[in-house]
Amino acid sequence: MKFFIDTAEVAEIKTWADSGFLDGVTTNPSLIKSSGRDMLEVIAEICAVIDTPVSAEVAALDHPTMLKEAMVLKDIAPNVVVKLPTTLDGLKTCRHLANIGVRTNLTLCFSANQALLAAKAGATYISPFIGRMDDINLDGMNLIRDIRNIYSSFQFKTQILAASIRTVNHVSDAALAGADVATIPASILGKLVHHPLTDKGLEAFVNDWKSTGQTIL
Ligand code: G3P
Repeated sequence: MKFFIDTAEVAEIKTWADSGFLDGVTTNPSLIKSSGRDMLEVIAEICAVIDTPVSAEVAALDHPTMLKEAMVLKDIAPNVVVKLPTTLDGLKTCRHLANIGVRTNLTLCFSANQALLAAKAGATYISPFIGRMDDINLDGMNLIRDIRNIYSSFQFKTQILAASIRTVNHVSDAALAGADVATIPASILGKLVHHPLTDKGLEAFVNDWKSTGQTIL
């Protein structure tokens, strides 16, 4: 399973870039707003920090303008993935971009039918929004399982990118449900490694080692 970081904060990306497990970055208009940065500048800066896929989202809602925006975004750097809403116009734009070899991430997916359409339109990634489904008492993990079943049955190559991750359990549950990627906020990434038994065990090892009086170096 690949891990992307869900942020438009360059400092966060730099912090995690050398962790050994960061496989990409996703942004969206709300994250750009939070960063307070110019979108084209910040995407270029992120792409200079990391050469893995970086999702940058179009702002337009109609196909012709989405396509024009997509051309600007994809020219920022070779690792830009154009993020499109899972709407009819987004799907049309996705098909066009797939035909010319531009990678896409279809966002705001809340149903298996939307995921099926995205795969048929040649999407590179489909982003089901887990947390936002939980917010209204729907089961985001079931959606991932359904998409996994459909994609596996028909051998679609579109990767399932679990988005709107809000808890550490969302990460492992998405892995178990068959997601190919999870895009994770830095706050959750930082919590994944923690386990009280690791801390307790390490404390005992450190104390016992000290009491032997030995050194390795
Ligand atoms: O990748 C999409 C994600 O950023 C949305 O997360 O927490 O706004 O639902 P959230």
